Amino acid sequence: MSKILPHSLFVIFGATGDLAKRKLIPALFSLYNKQVLENVSILAIGRKPLSSVEFRTYLQNEAIIKTESLDDRDDFFSKIDYLDLPINDQNGYEPLSQFTRMYPEKNIVFYLSTPPELFEPIVAGIANAWVNTPFSRVAFEKPFGSDLESAKKLNDFVTQTFSEDQIFRIDHYVGKETIQNILAFRFANALFEPLWNNHYIDNIQITATESLGVENRGTYYDHAGALRDMVQNHLFQVLALVTMEPPHSLTSTAIHDEKIKVIHSLRLEKYLPAHVVFGQYAGYRNELWIPETSRTETFAALRLEVHNWRLKGVPIYLRTGKALAEKKTKVVIEFRKNASILYNEQDELDRNRIIFEISPYEGISVGFNVKEYGETKNTRAVWSEFIQTTESPEAYERILSDLLLGDHTLFTRWDMIEESWKIVDHLVHCKENCPILHPYEKGTHGPDAVDYLLAMDEREWYE
Ligand code: BG6
Repeated sequence: MSKILPHSLFVIFGATGDLAKRKLIPALFSLYNKQVLENVSILAIGRKPLSSVEFRTYLQNEAIIKTESLDDRDDFFSKIDYLDLPINDQNGYEPLSQFTRMYPEKNIVFYLSTPPELFEPIVAGIANAWVNTPFSRVAFEKPFGSDLESAKKLNDFVTQTFSEDQIFRIDHYVGKETIQNILAFRFANALFEPLWNNHYIDNIQITATESLGVENRGTYYDHAGALRDMVQNHLFQVLALVTMEPPHSLTSTAIHDEKIKVIHSLRLEKYLPAHVVFGQYAGYRNELWIPETSRTETFAALRLEVHNWRLKGVPIYLRTGKALAEKKTKVVIEFRKNASILYNEQDELDRNRIIFEISPYEGISVGFNVKEYGETKNTRAVWSEFIQTTESPEAYERILSDLLLGDHTLFTRWDMIEESWKIVDHLVHCKENCPILHPYEKGTHGPDAVDYLLAMDEREWYE
């Protein structure tokens, strides 16, 4: 992480947007503080007619930067230039072309942090202005498409200008420290790897709940819903890391090759409606920009299986939703029950579990049974915990640094996007034809039906 990043011009489209002020500029500032950004020049692009000085003042007021030293912050801001471009006019990119001529020796990274409908116009503008060189890269914020068809169309368009090697599709979840730790935990420990299969694992639970509602993102969210917003990308990425086979090396291609096999092996139940739960929180239809009749799901839970030798028969439960009791992202691996023959004849033995805590806490816990103190035949469950004590870098810091280094490992390859849209399109179709959209109160654990999903299998969510 302490590598000085290569000579580059980092161009942010959508620089006056929400993501830039909340995540991108703070992540770049953090890299600047670590003194790895000295060879990187930053160009912010937006539609607002601002000078560079005015943009820096905007950043001083708006960018969410935690620092004790305002001088350091302002010094960093002073290195950022701003350009306003008519983004939709593909013949209006000459100012960008002029600007890049000042940096002939640098790689250019185009970061598209804009609404997805601007991706094609921006790529067309870049192509028209001849600023794409074999050394430039382009990064797309999610969502990459809103279904299989639109994703394919976008990909076909982008690949007319950029090759797959130049394209970086972002999923910030993969940049999170504990999510990256999943592979290390699985494949660096002789203790756990042999147990990672359907002989020992009973079920897998992946949870990503949020306490906030849609806030001011109604226009986007009402067209997306939980399936497109969280399941197609973040949850499938986590699922792939938890269930994939060991890659032959840690190269990007080897990891992506294993991830895609898992997505190919995903099976939805034949009678799908019994294995999905969709919900909408009370008051959602009164949120800004949400139609009164909206049937968008703000909660989704589903049961899937990975149909391969290792995991066939192990149910995988996913759930995600907004306006719930807490912000929590975690993965629980539950092992099969031991027969209560020697111990706990009265009460069942607790299952062994492994928990990856991703947010807000970060760490990994292993739950096992020990003899109850002073007893002979009764046990109790205890936990051995690894807690990430140093504050992890923001996921975006890692993402931006890898992007500047040109490392694809933490980015989504096209085949993964394509396959995951196939599944999510099917789920969306099921949702649209499913009469039940369970209402739930804000601040709760979601619709009650989410418990029945596991109860059908005689299991329950581990809280
Ligand atoms: C984004 C979704 O990709 O991820 C948001 O669009 C969601 O709706 C966010 O709130 C959650 O990210 P994190 O890192 O806060 O768990």
